[in-house]
Amino acid sequence: MSGNNFPPKITIHDITTRKKEGKKVSVITAYDYPSARIADEAGIDIILVGDSLGMVVLGYANTLKVTMDEMIHHTKAASRGVKSALLVGDMPYMSYHASVEETVRNAGRFVKEAGAEAVKIEGGRKRLRMIRAILDAEIPVMGHIGLTPQSIHMMGGYRVQGKVLEKAEELISDAQLLEEEGIFSIVLEGIPDELSKIITSELKIPTIGIGAGKWCDGQVLVFHDMLGYTDAYLPKFVRKYADLHGEMKNAIGRFISDIESGEFPSENESYSLPEDVALKLSMKYGVATEE
Ligand code: KIV
Repeated sequence: MSGNNFPPKITIHDITTRKKEGKKVSVITAYDYPSARIADEAGIDIILVGDSLGMVVLGYANTLKVTMDEMIHHTKAASRGVKSALLVGDMPYMSYHASVEETVRNAGRFVKEAGAEAVKIEGGRKRLRMIRAILDAEIPVMGHIGLTPQSIHMMGGYRVQGKVLEKAEELISDAQLLEEEGIFSIVLEGIPDELSKIITSELKIPTIGIGAGKWCDGQVLVFHDMLGYTDAYLPKFVRKYADLHGEMKNAIGRFISDIESGEFPSENESYSLPEDVALKLSMKYGVATEE
């Protein structure tokens, strides 16, 4: 029984049953309290604290430098803004590669320290051992295959994946293997439309697309990209719903000119002394306190 007006908390179970009900899953990244709060209040299903924060928030050239401590710091902040959405923390590069023990401890930090309800891991069959260990620690896992940005050097840049038959079939079987291992959903990034249609039809768990066409069971975009909170180059799959960069720059420009012209602050934006105090001070210091 709940005495508030918040929408109910979205659980892993809700996400997995969406597919059976034929309802799409909406996902957005967020990296701090205000952005998570806005997305949550707008009614998003899943908030992913993505390691894309390395580029859009921290200004790194790619996601490889992002550390566990940075991810935990941002996931903690985002979790304070979330009431309803499912919160997923993205495991950064080298946090789940070296050993099973380190992988489980790092996944555990997302849940214990930062309040995440699941973690995301990039990669296909190579990751099965680590995924099994995280699941054994009772932490739900979201998969991520296709264009996996942490593999930028192995891929030779950010390129659409699965365009040749062998690679396409490898991605289909990677998705199946990850599903068999027990992940609750999977991000398909940067793969052709037809391939994501096949993967989506082969799996029982929801597929979440980014640059993977319309057949996926859900879609995800990066907060800063879809809101235009950046003027950087955006790939063609990003639909820009706002121009926050332009609006914010314009607003700050107006603030600067209001300061320079003396238009800001106005009387309404200032505090005044009681009249008798103002008068006494003005007489003592010889400064007119009225215009
Ligand atoms: O880091 C991220 O933001 C992601 C999404 C784009 C899926 O992995």
